[in-house]
Amino acid sequence: MKFFMDTADVESIRKAVDLGLCDGVTTNPSLIMKSGKDQKTVIKEIAKIVKGPISVEGVAEDAAGMVKEGEEFAKWAPNVVVKIPMTREGMRAVRMLSEKDIKTNVTLVFSASQALLAAKAGATYVSPFVGRLDDVSQDGMALIEEIMDIFTNYEIKTEVIVASTRHPIHVVQSARLGAHIATMPAEVFEKMFRHPLTDKGIAQFKEDYAKSKK
Ligand code: G3P
Repeated sequence: MKFFMDTADVESIRKAVDLGLCDGVTTNPSLIMKSGKDQKTVIKEIAKIVKGPISVEGVAEDAAGMVKEGEEFAKWAPNVVVKIPMTREGMRAVRMLSEKDIKTNVTLVFSASQALLAAKAGATYVSPFVGRLDDVSQDGMALIEEIMDIFTNYEIKTEVIVASTRHPIHVVQSARLGAHIATMPAEVFEKMFRHPLTDKGIAQFKEDYAKSKK
């Protein structure tokens, strides 16, 4: 299973890369805005430290506009993936970009039917948003289960990026369901390390080591 960092904060990305635990990055216009930097500048900075896929999202609403944006993003770094919203025009853009060998990540996916459409359109990745579904009292992880069943039935090559993860359990459940990738904010990644019994155990061993040296 691959771990992507869902952030445009270069320092958080660098920390995960230094640990050897960052397989890629996903961004969106809100995350770019939070970075306080211009999109092209920050994506180029990220591309200097991340070898894996980096998803970049535009704002065009028609297929021609999305393709134009995508072609521009693809010039920024060889590992750029173009994020395309789950709309009719978006699916036209996915087809056109895949014909140009530009990778796509279909975003804002909230149902299995949308994931299936994206896969049929030729998306490289599909991003169901689990946290936002949980927020409206729908079971986000149930959607991942449905999508994984469908993609397994037909040996669909499109990879599933579990997005909008809010806590480590989303990541662990994604792994149990065989999702290809979980993309997570820095806080979720950080929380994955933590367990009070680990901290307690380390403190105890340190204390006992000091005692044994006397
Ligand atoms: O990758 C999609 C993600 O950025 C959305 O997360 O927390 O805004 O629902 P969130």
